[in-house]
Amino acid sequence: MTSDAYWHAVSLSSAVEPGTTSGVMVEGKELVVWRDQAGSAHVWEDRCPHRGMRLSFGAVRGDRLGCLYHGWQYDGAGQCRAIPAHPDLVVPKTIKVLTYHVTEAFDMIWMSTAVEAPLPIAFDASDTTPLRSLTLDCPLQIAIEALGNTELPGFAGTGNTGFDAVRSHPALWTLGNDTDRLLIAGQVIDDAHSALHIVILGRSETYSGAGQMHFARWAEQFRAEVELSSRDAA
Ligand code: FES
Repeated sequence: MTSDAYWHAVSLSSAVEPGTTSGVMVEGKELVVWRDQAGSAHVWEDRCPHRGMRLSFGAVRGDRLGCLYHGWQYDGAGQCRAIPAHPDLVVPKTIKVLTYHVTEAFDMIWMSTAVEAPLPIAFDASDTTPLRSLTLDCPLQIAIEALGNTELPGFAGTGNTGFDAVRSHPALWTLGNDTDRLLIAGQVIDDAHSALHIVILGRSETYSGAGQMHFARWAEQFRAEVELSSRDAA
């Protein structure tokens, strides 16, 4: 699955706090996800234009991201604004990090590589409670097939587990019954690895604490089972 035309979920929003960075990979591209001190999320190529150091190793300074190696600082648009070794230099506009479109929805951070950002995903979810992201040692397609065959234990309610695609997005699914339902976004890390970003479709008053632990246990078990069956099939 490769596409520049849709939004890719890269993290739960709560996993990237203000002033922090995280290195992720989407379809083999290394990216840095970072949040400035004012709370805005950014997704860039994880490569400093100077000597190629990973920017995910860098430090957030207010509304800028500073590279670990020589301290060059980049503003929210990816433009280099300061070179510590040459404090009086007017930094050329050509020194710029490759940046991507970013949005946050459903307690997740999404990025798009498209030149023109597509419309946001059409899915109605007014209340969500973050669960967790799962990194899997298997292709996304295997994880999705396993989700279609899994049973989700109910927390607030019971009933048959249903697994459904969200039609407006090629890598977004729901899993659960009429009361308890998860929203799951798939991320292709590379040909052999994937990630699932999972939120509970429901109010935090109902699910925070015990409900999150309940579904987090299911997620751990699901990961163990899908990785085992993937290894056995290899
Ligand atoms: S490699 Fe980033 S500042 Fe030198």
